[in-house]
Amino acid sequence: MKRVLLFILPILILVTLGFAISGIMQARFTEEKLMDDLKRKARSVGESLELSAEYILLNNDLKQANRLVDSFQKRERLQGCVIYNKDGQILAITERFSDFKERQRPYLKDILSSKIPRGVLEKFKEYSVYSYVLPVLNDDESLLGMVEVIYDTSYMFTTLAELWRKISVTSITLILLIIAIALLIQRQIFIIPVRRLTQWFTHFQRGETDKLRPFAEKGEFGKLISEVEQVALSIRVARRTISDEAHVRLQKDELWTETKLKNLIHAKLDDNALFVVSNREPYMHVFNESTGKSACIRPASGVVTAIHPILSACGGTWIAHGSGNSDRKFVNSKDKLGVPPEDNRYILKRVWLNKEEEQGYYYGFSNEGLWPLCHNTHTRPVFKESDWLMYKEVNQKFADSVLSELPASSPFIFVQDYHFTLLPKMIKDKRPDAKVALFWHIPWPTPEAFMICPYQNEILEGMLGSDLIGFHVQNHCNNFLDTANRLLESRVDTEKFSVVRSGKETFIRAFPISIDAHIDDGSFRVDPVRQVEKLRKELELEDGIVIAVGVDRIDYTKGIVERILAIDRFLDKYPEYKKNFVFVQLAAPSRTHIKRYHDLIGKIDELVEKINRKHTDGNWKPIIYLKKHFSEDDIQPYYRLGDICIVSSLHDGMNLVAKEYVAEKSDLSGALILSQFTGAARELTDAILINPYSIEEFADSIKLAIQMPKEEKQRRMENMRKVIAENNIFRWAANIITELIALKTI
Ligand code: G6P
Repeated sequence: MKRVLLFILPILILVTLGFAISGIMQARFTEEKLMDDLKRKARSVGESLELSAEYILLNNDLKQANRLVDSFQKRERLQGCVIYNKDGQILAITERFSDFKERQRPYLKDILSSKIPRGVLEKFKEYSVYSYVLPVLNDDESLLGMVEVIYDTSYMFTTLAELWRKISVTSITLILLIIAIALLIQRQIFIIPVRRLTQWFTHFQRGETDKLRPFAEKGEFGKLISEVEQVALSIRVARRTISDEAHVRLQKDELWTETKLKNLIHAKLDDNALFVVSNREPYMHVFNESTGKSACIRPASGVVTAIHPILSACGGTWIAHGSGNSDRKFVNSKDKLGVPPEDNRYILKRVWLNKEEEQGYYYGFSNEGLWPLCHNTHTRPVFKESDWLMYKEVNQKFADSVLSELPASSPFIFVQDYHFTLLPKMIKDKRPDAKVALFWHIPWPTPEAFMICPYQNEILEGMLGSDLIGFHVQNHCNNFLDTANRLLESRVDTEKFSVVRSGKETFIRAFPISIDAHIDDGSFRVDPVRQVEKLRKELELEDGIVIAVGVDRIDYTKGIVERILAIDRFLDKYPEYKKNFVFVQLAAPSRTHIKRYHDLIGKIDELVEKINRKHTDGNWKPIIYLKKHFSEDDIQPYYRLGDICIVSSLHDGMNLVAKEYVAEKSDLSGALILSQFTGAARELTDAILINPYSIEEFADSIKLAIQMPKEEKQRRMENMRKVIAENNIFRWAANIITELIALKTI
């Protein structure tokens, strides 16, 4: 209340003063005008009385004088009139002013002597009057007498009083109106936003993150809210990290755990000074037309699978393209939000791209140019100048977004993948103190393959802005060093495994990426046995049937077509498995605006239908094809259900599905069929390795997986699980960070 008064009181005082001054001026003006009118009227009536009185005074006609006085007093507002002789004695006077005779009025003598008319305001009995006296002169200018007209002035006071009344009523009404408007404005611009901010904080304090709605306030208050939001977000993320640290310190573990990584990062990097940049965001808000609600999904992406556990453990900021159609609704004024939504561990900053930018940079240059260029699948890369220009612009946009976030001292920026080849240099040019690492999640081709790219120099120069470039396998590192050596004026140091260009040294290292394996965790959110049983029922799978699973984005590099052809061949070749074998393929549609991907979806649909039609027997069909986006939690039961997992990529940087399958097999059951053209094949040597181009070999490997003795399967699975447990994602991140910090550049 006190604050409201403080706000309103000055307005009130000012408005009241304003009205008072303007009221006084208006009254003054009216009063002067009324007085002028009265004087004018008195003069004109006095002059006409003078004319009539001239004759009377010449003849000293008393009777006529009285008649004249009587006739004049009937005029408007005229209260009376008097006729004097030249000695100043009254000859005739209006009855009600007869007492005038007794009054001493010295100025009458002045008028007689000066012969100049005069008006005077006087008080007579209860009347306030205005009397106007003028001399009556003969033709020769000799004095005959005087006439006087007397006007009542009280009407002037009545008029002025009425005026003041009106001014007061208007002023009070206006003041009340102003107070009401001021209160309304104050409520709108101050009280409501503050109330919302308070509510926001209450939810924040209680950890009710789902109730935190973004603010749309503008101006100074908007700026304040925006700053408050950023602080709150950092506190939330920091709070999580600290509490987790306390919790996990108690565990003693030989393996690389999130705690160990967290400790390493806290020791080596400043708090929250870790910045990750990728095209794909870890959380995407998508509007579901059928439910009318927005859902938060985890996109199918190896980058997301790998990086999310690192930031979950250590906090930091992840900058990515906000590609969900509902994404804008969930960010704060600086395009940020805390993720995971239900348990904020790090900050996701969304960068917005318009349709043209997304087309040129993402669909065009990244996925029609660089993606096929780096994957050896005989798909022709398409390089369009317009796509390249857009790719450069978007890289700059991301660079600006990253630069605006960086703290004053030595931040660590971890750039992901082929979408951002130019970013490292763009960042380094502005912030030479920043440590920049680039991880290449896909294969790196031979120099011969790479050199068809028209923008090879700019791409290599951009990448070499990094202090460290990581690939999954040594072979890709070698290819990169060869490429830099052959295509760029640079010095390749084969001892140190680095490239020196324009006095800047970049180290090239192999870091086989992995997953957050949870190998020794043993904790399940849902009972896995019941979950698998439920799934079996849903898919109408009979007990004892061999189940193979495949989990992929629909991408021509994944060898899905080859897989289906191999299943067809397997059933043709080993018909005894008909009705005893089912292949379940989970397929997430991907990059569907690109014709090659769009056509592939159609091709797989047709092929699945054809093979199913060919082999169907009663209720049994060999392939269950589930084409939709699956969340991490949705996929897990399929891994557990699968007696076999098939990964048949034609070329793949690593392939984390292979590792996820192995990680889920805590009972050591299951067999992994793995393409030899994946990065994972270098580590998971106990998988059944295949060449997916050889359909015959592929078909036989399915039989081998089914027939492999249980003990053999267990032994292989155990070995593979050991590899994954040791080389988990925390070790991967720790290796990169340690390497980056230890780098001694020239
Ligand atoms: C590969 C790339 C990732 C990408 C993922 C999914 O794994 O290396 O950078 O995120 O494919 O593709 P998308 O185009 O949907 O992000």
